[in-house]
Amino acid sequence: MNLAIIGLQWGDEGKGKIVDLLAKDYNYIVRYQGGNNAGHTVDVDGFEFVFHLLPSGVLHPKKIGVISEGVVINPKELLKEIDLLETKGITPNLYVSLGCHLIMPYHIFIDSAYEESQKIGTTMRGIGPTYIDRVGRCGIRMADLLNEKVFAQKIKLNLLQKEPILKGRFDSDEIIIEYLSLFERVKPYLADTRSILNKAIANSEPILFEGAQGTLLDIGFGTYPYVTSSHTTVGGISIGTGISANKISKIMGVMKAYATRVGEGPFPTELKEQEGEYLRMKGREYGATTGRPRRCGWLDLVAIRYAIEVNGINSLVITKLDVLSDLPKIKVCTEYRINGKPCEFQPWISDWSEVEPIIIEFPGWCRDISNIKDYSELPEEAKSYLSAIEKMLGVKIGLVSVGPRRDQTLNK
Ligand code: GDP
Ligand code: IMO
Ligand code: MG
Repeated sequence: MNLAIIGLQWGDEGKGKIVDLLAKDYNYIVRYQGGNNAGHTVDVDGFEFVFHLLPSGVLHPKKIGVISEGVVINPKELLKEIDLLETKGITPNLYVSLGCHLIMPYHIFIDSAYEESQKIGTTMRGIGPTYIDRVGRCGIRMADLLNEKVFAQKIKLNLLQKEPILKGRFDSDEIIIEYLSLFERVKPYLADTRSILNKAIANSEPILFEGAQGTLLDIGFGTYPYVTSSHTTVGGISIGTGISANKISKIMGVMKAYATRVGEGPFPTELKEQEGEYLRMKGREYGATTGRPRRCGWLDLVAIRYAIEVNGINSLVITKLDVLSDLPKIKVCTEYRINGKPCEFQPWISDWSEVEPIIIEFPGWCRDISNIKDYSELPEEAKSYLSAIEKMLGVKIGLVSVGPRRDQTLNK
């Protein structure tokens, strides 16, 4: 059975924790889109590790991590992450696709230059400009590094094409030398991951697909233009790995018990200024990649219903329920209205300030739940809250997370 784990909000739903928790039952853990804009936190035995590029399951011995074609890679950052794991005594089993596009130093510069004219609040990792080159057919792939002449030609062409924005800031020879040297260390991991994964499927070896970012950041179905540049929805798996969509057996959606977002863009249930501070402090809502404070707000079921439909979610995971524990009243958005008329979440809404979130309240449970080991021990108010969410979303909640550790997870 192959499982997809997909974020249902604007990222940071706790996907890393859930991937690490479930990885024991899978042979391969695959990152298939995005790049080191992701920050997936795993907390095992008091040891916290934030994965940016490596799949979050690689802390389990013998599991095989795969980074497939749809991921954009900064080789320096990839090696840094591998080195950091090795200092902790972990050598990841890893395959990286020869088809992955490379993030180059000029992509990072262009990312920051674009931010000056159109602020998206990106992670400044060069993700958008690298995907732009991929679509523009001038991108450079891992396989290009196998042939120094081809690689050098491509770098020179890119610098020439981008000269109006780069204005002589980058020297082709410096880049060529740096990347060829990094390549020597990346080479042992390179492989035809499409073929490896399809063979694994033929041998009935289970695969876990680890989504990065979240549905509302999808390039096509998110809150465009305030999105990332990849397909974060379930369709990203097929186009990012070369595996048929009919090989994905289960699609699990991860959502926080409230909502957060990093960077610019619409957020109908956002709690402005001090109001959001409680959730930020209690939930430690600071970016795992950039350290930026995350914007916080109430759970938005209109957006989640949309995300469930776009991805065909068959099972839900709700995380950070413990963060709501001290609140006497818990609020949830169940409907949007524009000029008094109900409306659905639509990625092309042009003026989000017109969207009025209709909020309902649930009684809180006002006691610590982070040490509870069985679902039945949750306070009645927490169970009613979860059952109401399940009913309003029409999908069962399979797992409830009450803390960052593996053992802080309840089967519902
Ligand atoms: P991801 O990008 O979806 O993997 O999520 P992040 O790692 O960026 O952010 C989730 C944060 O919440 C991390 O610091 C996790 O350790 C933490 N976390 C995950 N699940 C829970 C939970 O149930 N309760 C609490 N309090 N923290 C959690
Ligand atoms: P994980 O996988 C939260 C956001 C950025 C910005 C927008 C575009 O940890 O959930 P980019 O650098 O991708 O061009 O930035 O997307 N963003 C994320 N927000 N979690 C992430 O990843 C994110 N990756 C990108 O903040 O608003
Ligand atoms: Mg994150």
